[in-house]
Amino acid sequence: MVRVTARAHPNIALVKYWGKRDPVLNLPAVPSLSVTLDGFQTTTTVTWGVGEDRVWLDGREATPPEARRVSVFLDRVAPERPPCLVESASNFPSSAGLASSSSAFAALALAATRAAGRPMDPFALSVLARQGSGSACRSILGGFVEWRRGERMDGSDSHAVQVAPPGAWDLRVVVAVVSRGAKAVSSSEGMARTVATSPCHAAFVADAPAEVERARAAVLARDLPALCAAMERSTLGMVASMLTTRPSLRYWKPGTLAVVEQVERLRSEGIPVGWTTDAGPNVKVLCEGGHAAEVEAVLAPLALETHVLSPGPGASWVVS
Ligand code: PMV
Repeated sequence: MVRVTARAHPNIALVKYWGKRDPVLNLPAVPSLSVTLDGFQTTTTVTWGVGEDRVWLDGREATPPEARRVSVFLDRVAPERPPCLVESASNFPSSAGLASSSSAFAALALAATRAAGRPMDPFALSVLARQGSGSACRSILGGFVEWRRGERMDGSDSHAVQVAPPGAWDLRVVVAVVSRGAKAVSSSEGMARTVATSPCHAAFVADAPAEVERARAAVLARDLPALCAAMERSTLGMVASMLTTRPSLRYWKPGTLAVVEQVERLRSEGIPVGWTTDAGPNVKVLCEGGHAAEVEAVLAPLALETHVLSPGPGASWVVS
């Protein structure tokens, strides 16, 4: 029996991933670019070699579909594996729209490969984490991270690479939670419907490589207005694809638009700031460290809760 603990942080896409070219391997239709966040984290312990597969999430036993997803993932680590115990806990609200699956599968990939005695380099680990949840491949690495779309059918070239480390730029992500309801349509289901029916998705896919190029250049030049422009264009392309899916995927709530309007007002007053959303109503706002308190103060009256997060590290092994 081997017991290994690992920790990973969620990431927020600045240039978005929406749509798969292979839904089994989670191969994306587009490249994307994200920032891994500090403060929020998932800690996962894998015990390799117990009586039967058991999965605990935030102190409760996982539902059968959740447990199955974890078991299938462990089978990818080692098909001939023994039964395992997985205990995972996150220190952040699942309502925050902070892609808890990104930190969950990154931490699980690191803990499980070590527990299995099959340690992997970060690229191989990123390929593995991607198969649990696409965005998890980006949480293997810290700071500003690009997920290369890749061309190969087996997905071996579809993994994350670091663009800049967490300390490279004093940015903040201010999260404005405007609704705590669970999303009605999962991202995997939403992506499948979008690829099948949205007339706007092809334009989003066509624009993505250039948007990632511009965002990468903006990160390397520490050019926040250019990064915010790329982020908002990419988000709007994704949201247009969602809205024009049949039946329409409307993840936004009225409170989402109220936050977006305030962010644009702050920008018109000269504060470099930009917004993004994911498969949900909550808004993530990018700004410099020196403006974070002011941005949070403006958004707090419109939100149920706010969080201010910094760029953070990649997944790491916890010595117990
Ligand atoms: O990795 P998934 O299946 O949870 O999909 C994430 C999709 C978005 O959060 C909407 C965009 C992204 O790039 O993270």
